[in-house]
Amino acid sequence: MIRMINPGRRLFTPNLRMVICIPSGITEVEKRAVKDSSEHAGAKEVYLIHEPMAAAIGIGIDVEEPMGNMIIDIGGGTSEIAVIALGGIVCDKNIRVAGDEFTQDIESTCAANTTSWWVSARRRRTKIEVGAAMTELDNPPPDYAVRGRDLMTGIPKEITVTYVEIAQALDKSISKIEEAILSALEATPPELSADIYKTGIYLAGGGALLRGLDKRISIKTKLPVHVSEDPLRAVARGTGIALKNIDRFQFLMRE
Ligand SMILES: Nc1ncnc2c1ncn2[C@@H]1O[C@H](COP(=O)(O)OP(=O)(O)OP(=O)(O)O)[C@@H](O)[C@H]1O
Ligand SMILES: [Mg+2]
Repeated sequence: MIRMINPGRRLFTPNLRMVICIPSGITEVEKRAVKDSSEHAGAKEVYLIHEPMAAAIGIGIDVEEPMGNMIIDIGGGTSEIAVIALGGIVCDKNIRVAGDEFTQDIESTCAANTTSWWVSARRRRTKIEVGAAMTELDNPPPDYAVRGRDLMTGIPKEITVTYVEIAQALDKSISKIEEAILSALEATPPELSADIYKTGIYLAGGGALLRGLDKRISIKTKLPVHVSEDPLRAVARGTGIALKNIDRFQFLMRE
């Protein structure tokens, strides 16, 4: 990354200031390792910001206000649920069920039904093309043709996958995320949950793009759910804003 910013100017190491986002469940040893490698790459000043905080800033939430906001970041490896108020993370839950697990679910269910297999990139494509969190959608995607190979005969064949099948395949994993959300809501101090009941929940991360996930979480929690604009980049955008406004946001970060 650093070389990409400064190609050809290897002789001078500029005084870099870096803001790096870290998962909120990270250990002190891991933080140290992040800092050390940044310094090794030429950073003179390193600040670490927790991902849910960065996501909140990226979404455009005023993180300093005395109001509770719930952010759910459904990434590849982990789903992170955090309540933010007064510039701090008040409560935080992490589970290792997210987009990659969804992709696995699609493989195991579809492969079992059809005795076909298809390569990983196509599974992810399938999730994006016909992925759904609910079996009833307002704007359902068309059925999707997947080419694979019959495991018994070895002959290539094509199967059609519907969004309903995908929704069924993902049901268990999504339920786990819902459970974590409910337990985070339970653990939230009452004065902050009152705010969340008013403003609702914000979704970020690539998993937020799954069709109907916002509606499903909204039905489960009885709260309004908003998908952030460009959810895949919310964390990166927020980290960039923190870097540009370092004086304002420095109190959120640790050196
Ligand atoms: N349109 C889409 N529908 C469903 N899932 C999607 C879509 N686009 C991307 N994803 C999934 O989102 C995940 C990546 O999201 P993101 O970039 O937020 O994760 P990450 O930040 O790299 O992971 P982590 O936060 O766990 O470290 C992948 O599993 C990807 O397949
Ligand atoms: Mg992430």
